[in-house]
Amino acid sequence: MTILDGKKVSNDIKDEIAEHVKAMVSKGGKVPHLAAILVGTDGASMTYVNAKVKACERIGFNSTLIDLPDYTTEEELLQKIDQLNTDNDIDGFIVQLPLPKHIDEQKVLMAVNPDKDVDGFHPTNVGKMALDLPTFLPATPYGIMELLERYQIETSGKNVVVLGRSHIVGRPMSILMSQKRKAGDATVTVVHSRSKNLKEITLEADIVVAAIGISEFLTGDMVKEDVVIIDVGITRVPDATKKTGYRLAGDVEFESVSKKASYITPVPGGVGPMTIAMLLKNTLLARERNLQ
Ligand code: GUN
Repeated sequence: MTILDGKKVSNDIKDEIAEHVKAMVSKGGKVPHLAAILVGTDGASMTYVNAKVKACERIGFNSTLIDLPDYTTEEELLQKIDQLNTDNDIDGFIVQLPLPKHIDEQKVLMAVNPDKDVDGFHPTNVGKMALDLPTFLPATPYGIMELLERYQIETSGKNVVVLGRSHIVGRPMSILMSQKRKAGDATVTVVHSRSKNLKEITLEADIVVAAIGISEFLTGDMVKEDVVIIDVGITRVPDATKKTGYRLAGDVEFESVSKKASYITPVPGGVGPMTIAMLLKNTLLARERNLQ
């Protein structure tokens, strides 16, 4: 069993980006600048956004964190987005999700200038992705594709089961892996809360992407020998033996599934760091207006 070391691969990618930026800047180019909007005080969102900002600093990007209170109105948020859309110093920006309930998420994502949409969530960019056109790919699916590619895991003709159909992970993942591309050409099945005979389906999978948001949902009896496991989930599970009072668990029961897997991503240190690396990559692409 091989651990898919997202932490190491993401550091390699960040080193590559840092090198690239250094060369760009030495030729008189502008330093890429990423902005992130955070509305409210959700603990996990604060952790993610801070990690994104810190990663920018480490590789020599400029970053701006716009921290708004949870009583921010939709109107105020849309105004802030408009400012970033027209600020020539900002190459790309993200609005961290989820947003407070009184704000319409779709309306907000549609307000982002697609050329600065480094999360790849705007319908224009989702449409381009679905049509195999160059665009920003959403960072988590992009990171998973990169991880599969760098570990040279064969996906062509393989049975891939994606658990979950979220706009951020499950849906784009199913599109990308079925495309004619690196880490693509797979036969993809998407399963979700209404799917029947789930275990029968997962037992046929050569590769499982677990993004269902239920901790330790996928267990050893649900997968076949030598399966490749990508675990996107990350939840705090109460654990009295830890100082913090909790441990981080994925959507996969690591203990039982890792005994059967040929490759598996750990939680933490698997998909999470890759998401951040690919957001930085998208910001670099936005700076260069050079989409892949
Ligand atoms: N919330 C969970 N994942 C993401 C992500 O990739 N981008 C944003 N903006 N919010 C998220």
